[in-house]
Amino acid sequence: MAELVCRRRWLLWLLVLAAAAVHLPSAAAVSGRPAARQRLEVQRHLKRLNKKAVTSIKSPDGDMIDCVHISHQPAFDHPFLKNHTIQTKPAFYPDGLLFDESKTTSENKSPSMAQLWHQNGRCPQNTIPIRRTRKDDLLRASSVKRYGKKKHRSLPNPMSVDPDLLNESGHQHAIAYVEGDSYYGAKATINVWEPKIEQPNEFSLSQLWILGGSFGEDLNSIEAGWQVSPDLYGDNNSRLFTYWTSDSYQATGCYNLLCSGFIQISSEIAMGATISPLSKYRGSQYDVSILVWKDPKEGHWWMQFGNDYVLGYWPSFLFSYLADSASMIEWGGEVVNSEPDGEHTSTAMGSGHFPEEGFSKSSYFRNIQVVDESNSLKDPRGISTFTEQSNCYDVQTGNSYRWGHFFYYGGPGKNSNCP
Ligand SMILES: *[C@@H]1O[C@H](CO)[C@@H](O)[C@H](O)[C@H]1NC(C)=O
Ligand SMILES: *[C@@H]1O[C@H](CO)[C@@H](O)[C@H](O)[C@H]1NC(C)=O
Ligand SMILES: *[C@@H]1O[C@H](CO)[C@@H](O)[C@H](O)[C@H]1NC(C)=O
Repeated sequence: MAELVCRRRWLLWLLVLAAAAVHLPSAAAVSGRPAARQRLEVQRHLKRLNKKAVTSIKSPDGDMIDCVHISHQPAFDHPFLKNHTIQTKPAFYPDGLLFDESKTTSENKSPSMAQLWHQNGRCPQNTIPIRRTRKDDLLRASSVKRYGKKKHRSLPNPMSVDPDLLNESGHQHAIAYVEGDSYYGAKATINVWEPKIEQPNEFSLSQLWILGGSFGEDLNSIEAGWQVSPDLYGDNNSRLFTYWTSDSYQATGCYNLLCSGFIQISSEIAMGATISPLSKYRGSQYDVSILVWKDPKEGHWWMQFGNDYVLGYWPSFLFSYLADSASMIEWGGEVVNSEPDGEHTSTAMGSGHFPEEGFSKSSYFRNIQVVDESNSLKDPRGISTFTEQSNCYDVQTGNSYRWGHFFYYGGPGKNSNCP
């Protein structure tokens, strides 16, 4: 308590000093005010995001992974979660899950995916691994407050009646989607690449979207996949990520655990951590499975990564539409095209190669499925595809016994047909 009072007083002094500085004629003093305010804001933010660690593990990629006691995770900063009893495992799995795994692993067995930091240790029981946020991470963000949040309207809306809107934000997509039913989850197995990013403010991601509501101000979305985002992580590594919002990316939601909401139970997988190994052109292919489904009783949305890791859940109360069900599922890639020098970006999507090239060259989503109202995994019906400019990034669907419904997607961005 004394310490708190002390800090408050110190803060007050700083504010007084900062305010006084405005009246000084010196240019240095004037520019010092926003810097001091930013420093404070950054410190406050770091303190909120980085919870006290039981132990920490240094990853080869430079990340620090903090093993935080499960009950000290960011979710419990949320006022609605003050009395929450953590569900230590899902009460229900979707029907059809095991059948699917045995079918795809028998002949198509690939080495299991891990996260790079596992090379240097694991987190103890009753802790969860959290990628530590650094000062530099916050300073790269357009504003400290927006750190970990998507920009508005970055969502592919294939039904948009206003085509201009699609290009407005510079986001480009190549996706498959279903809509028109009530959905209670989705699954996909995605191979992982490390697409080249031309500009640090661009990104390239591959994910699934679970959507409810309209594409106006009230959109609910749960998202998971892998991404390369120099702005968010400070490097070009492919990282596992999740996202959620209940108001079209405005006030609610964030990537990973960068705000309170998602409750993590896995001590093994860190959100935002580098995925390893990666697929190689004409070489070995490595893929990850992602399953998100709604607990039919409690209503929470659970997420499983690979066949072994149940990551945790988004409590039902975070959402409005998704508290009931989803009305649309999307799978696919998204890049930001900031049009450097007035030309299309050469930021790649997926492997950076077009769907025509096929296996081991193009990137894929295979065994895409939805969860229906009886909590069963089902093949999606009436799959459509969407892309803004197929000469830059494209998508092609297919169907086979072992891969079920699948699609290849992606592309290089800038090329002779996409100037
Ligand atoms: C938590 O429990 C306390 C004591 O039972 C109660 O006063 C409070 O309203 C509860 N808070 C929430 C958010 O449910
Ligand atoms: C997006 O912009 C590109 C280039 O300006 C154009 O060729 C394309 O038709 C636009 N797409 C849509 C869906 O409006
Ligand atoms: C990421 O890639 C870009 C372009 O390929 C490169 O210019 C940049 O230095 C890389 N950034 C890091 C942190 O390695």
